[in-house]
Amino acid sequence: MRAQIDSAGGLRHLVTLEGLSRETLLSLLDRAENYRRIPGQPAYEGRELAGVTVSNLFFEPSTRTRASFDLAARRLGAHVLNMDMQSSSRVKGETMLDTVYTLEAMNTDVFVIRDTEAGLPEFLIDHVAPHVSVISAGEAHCSHPTQGLLDVLTIRTHKRRFEGLKVVIVGDIRHSRVARSTAQALTTLGVTDLRLVGPESLLPDENEFRGAQRFTRIEDGLADADVVMMLRIQKERMAVDASLDDAAYFRDFGLTPARLRLAAPNAIVMHPGPMNRGIEIDSRVADGPQSVIREQVNNGVAVRMAVLAAIAATLTRHRLPL
Ligand code: CP
Repeated sequence: MRAQIDSAGGLRHLVTLEGLSRETLLSLLDRAENYRRIPGQPAYEGRELAGVTVSNLFFEPSTRTRASFDLAARRLGAHVLNMDMQSSSRVKGETMLDTVYTLEAMNTDVFVIRDTEAGLPEFLIDHVAPHVSVISAGEAHCSHPTQGLLDVLTIRTHKRRFEGLKVVIVGDIRHSRVARSTAQALTTLGVTDLRLVGPESLLPDENEFRGAQRFTRIEDGLADADVVMMLRIQKERMAVDASLDDAAYFRDFGLTPARLRLAAPNAIVMHPGPMNRGIEIDSRVADGPQSVIREQVNNGVAVRMAVLAAIAATLTRHRLPL
C-alpha cells in the first residue's frame, strides 16, 4: 500500500491508525479540538477545503459517519457528492475501481469510502491518481480510523491523559472495526491496561490486540475501569452466530447501573453507535450522567473536519498546475 504520510510528513490518506505516530494522532486531536463546537454554539465555518471535491461512497448503512463526513466537508467549504450506491451503476456490474475512476474524472479530490470488503481502501490508494486521497469510513471488520480518533478525543477530553488509564471494551470485539482502531490509537497514546470482555465466541483471535487482557465475565473486566466502551453485536458479519439470544446476552453482558458501579466512580461510558438498547446497554446507563455517547457523535464531526483539513493541506503539494 502507498504510504498514508507523504515525504514532507503530511497526511495523504487515512485508512488505518496502525503505524501512525503519536505525534500524528495528537496533532489531529488538537486540530479537532479547534473545530469542535458543542450543540447550541454556532458551527465552525471555514475555507480550508475551498475548491476541493469530496465524494462520499457508502456501500454499507451509516448514520453518524456519513452525516458527519458530509457536514465536516461542507463546513470547511468543500463541494460534496453523496453517492447513493443503491442507485449507482455498480448495480449494473460496474467495478468499484471504475466507479472511482469515473468520479475521479469529475475532479474528485478525496474519496470517503465504507465497504464490507476487507482491503478495498488499501487497493484504492494504490490505484487513484497521485493528486487524489482516500479516507476509510469503515472497512469490513478491520478498521474505522476516524471512529478511533473520535473515541480517543472523547477520552482525552474527560481524562486529560492516557497513561495509567484502565479501558475496557465489552461486546462483539471479534467483528468490530471500531475496537481495532480505537485499541490501536489507545496503545500508541500510552494506554497499557486494555481489557476485552465478551463471550468466548465474540473475542478476537489470540494474535490480535497484543497485550490486552481477556475476560468472559463482565464483572471481572469492569473492576475499577476508567473508561467503559460498549459494542453492539454485529449480526450482519456473523456466519453462524446470528442466532445469539438477546435476552441471555443482556443478562450476561449488558451494562446495567449495578454493573457500572463496579467501575471507577468517575468512569465514562462510551458506545460508537448504533446502540441496541436492552441488549448491550441499559437505557438508564446510555442516558445516564456517566454517558458520553452523544459527545462522541459531536467529536465525530470535529475529527472528520480535522482529517479532511489535514489531507487538503497535503493535497495542495500534489495537485497539478493549471
Ligand atoms: N459508529 C458508526 O460508524 O456509526 P454509523 O454506522 O451510524 O456510521
